[in-house]
Amino acid sequence: METNRRTVLTAAAAAGITAATLGGTAHATGGRTPVKSLFGKLADGTKVHSWSLANGGTRLKVLSYGGIVQSLEVPDRHGRYKNVSLGFDNIEDYVASSPYFGALIGRYGNRIAKGRFTLDGTAHQLSVNDGENTLHGGAQGFDKRVWDVEPFTKGSDVGLHLHYTSIDGEQGFPGTLRVKVTYTLTRQGDWRIDYAATTDKATVVNLTSHVYWNLAGEGSGSIYDHELKIAAARYTPVDSGLIPTGELARVAGTPFDFRRAKTVGEDIRVADQQLLYGKGLDHNWALDKGITAKPEHAATLRDPSSGRTLKIATTEPGLQFYSGNFLDGTLVGTGGRIYRQGDALCLETQHFPDSPNQPSFPSTTLRPGQTYRTSTVHTFGS
Ligand code: GLA
Repeated sequence: METNRRTVLTAAAAAGITAATLGGTAHATGGRTPVKSLFGKLADGTKVHSWSLANGGTRLKVLSYGGIVQSLEVPDRHGRYKNVSLGFDNIEDYVASSPYFGALIGRYGNRIAKGRFTLDGTAHQLSVNDGENTLHGGAQGFDKRVWDVEPFTKGSDVGLHLHYTSIDGEQGFPGTLRVKVTYTLTRQGDWRIDYAATTDKATVVNLTSHVYWNLAGEGSGSIYDHELKIAAARYTPVDSGLIPTGELARVAGTPFDFRRAKTVGEDIRVADQQLLYGKGLDHNWALDKGITAKPEHAATLRDPSSGRTLKIATTEPGLQFYSGNFLDGTLVGTGGRIYRQGDALCLETQHFPDSPNQPSFPSTTLRPGQTYRTSTVHTFGS
């Protein structure tokens, strides 16, 4: 049965469990001011801080490096907390070998073919870091930058404003882009992300968050038993380099049909060319709702073993569902356990991959005078 956070608190109160047992007074009274601590230092001596936030039964730790969600804890059906996002316990591993664990992604989430695009007649060559393509903004994307972090409390909300200025020409992208990302924990325990950006020259922008979810807890094993539902009748098939072909294919009758909840593992070994290309699921679903002014439902994830659920609502038209195919047992996670293929999944709200080269896809162009704004809300239950 699905309950919301308040039901958990009521049940906990009835059982004589105090708010402090469940993670501090933030549960009962709304958000407290985020707490800052030193997480580590970069090779050049730059300090990286960790910010701890708690509200409505959700506990979040965010790093100034990459805006990384280093830990996100929510209770199971018995009120037991686990960290449900993959990560590391030290800055060195994030710098040396993170596959974007928990990070903010920019200037362009997912791939741009051959790292090239033409805007207003000018050709641009980007940093290429995924075979011949650009992935997640190039070799030094927003996930590898130190963000300015400013905590806030507003009514019953608690959160962080993260600022980063990407200079003209950074990783090959035109225009100086001023980015502000707001992470909010609401009194219901929702984690909301609001992205905003402005530019001084025409450019392309596609920002997202790359949390690796395992609702049974990071390091607990495979997510193939998680049940997933995606509100999309179409997806964007790719070529062998994971660049969209431009087609918006129907999911009906394919392993990509998640319109009714099914386990991630159910069709993952079907001998399908698209699954061969992705080494599993690593595709963009074209959400039925399209671009919306307010976040609308996109996907629901449920772990039957713990009862934890995650609902994602977004203003974005696309959702990259990546089934952790490239995790290969070479990384040791936060809790000291090794991450293997399928030990987590990502649900990245976004515009479609390679949009700058795909005239039929919704545009990712941002011009001076315009403000880029998108929002995604994560709602937890158990
Ligand atoms: C995204 C991409 C994947 C992979 C991961 C990170 O989900 O679509 O192909 O690059 O990020 O490893």
